[in-house]
Amino acid sequence: MKTKAVVFDAYGTLFDVNSAAKKCKSKIGDDWEDFANFWRITQLEYTWLRSLMKRHKNFWQITEDSLDKSMKVFNIDKNMRKDLLNLYKVLSPYPEVKKVLQNLKKKNLKLAILSNGTPNLLNELVAGNNLTGLFDDLFSVEEVGIFKPDPKVYGLPLKKYKAQAFEITFLSANTWDVSGGGNYGYNSIWVNRNKSQFDKLDYQPKNEIDNLSQLLDVL
Ligand code: LAC
Repeated sequence: MKTKAVVFDAYGTLFDVNSAAKKCKSKIGDDWEDFANFWRITQLEYTWLRSLMKRHKNFWQITEDSLDKSMKVFNIDKNMRKDLLNLYKVLSPYPEVKKVLQNLKKKNLKLAILSNGTPNLLNELVAGNNLTGLFDDLFSVEEVGIFKPDPKVYGLPLKKYKAQAFEITFLSANTWDVSGGGNYGYNSIWVNRNKSQFDKLDYQPKNEIDNLSQLLDVL
């Protein structure tokens, strides 16, 4: 199988979504991680629900809406809202990310992000973490106005790379996103960072890795 492009999910795969709440953990308290996980799952639920209701809002607005609900549920001081949102714009990448991208770049493969994030958010994340120049493209769902796992989203890189779906190797830490890409026809690889269980959604990834540093071995 020939890979033309290696395409990465952003949130949870390249960038640590819990790093915003982690930086505020002294103010949030012991349940900062439960709060961060609740915020993330609420944010994802809103993407799926809005896609089903056909009431699209962009990922930044959804991030704000899901934060508002989460702050109420966890009784977080309203003054934290601005800090948490600002930190979400500068999420940290996982430690191995930059080196892996630099090594892949030497292999003459197209490298891209395919994400629910808005073009602005993705540009800021990439530039803010000194990753500019390592990616050929940042594909945002805003181009099709619906969230993952709608097949239209996974179609975005094909035209640009004159590729068929099976020529795209797609990496995500989100099991449902691995299934979405895999059902579309991608060669989807699961980055199982948290030793969790895979979904039953009609796709089983051929490869499962603990973190991205194992990617070069399976390509
Ligand atoms: C993204 C979310 C799904 O980056 O992690 O698209």
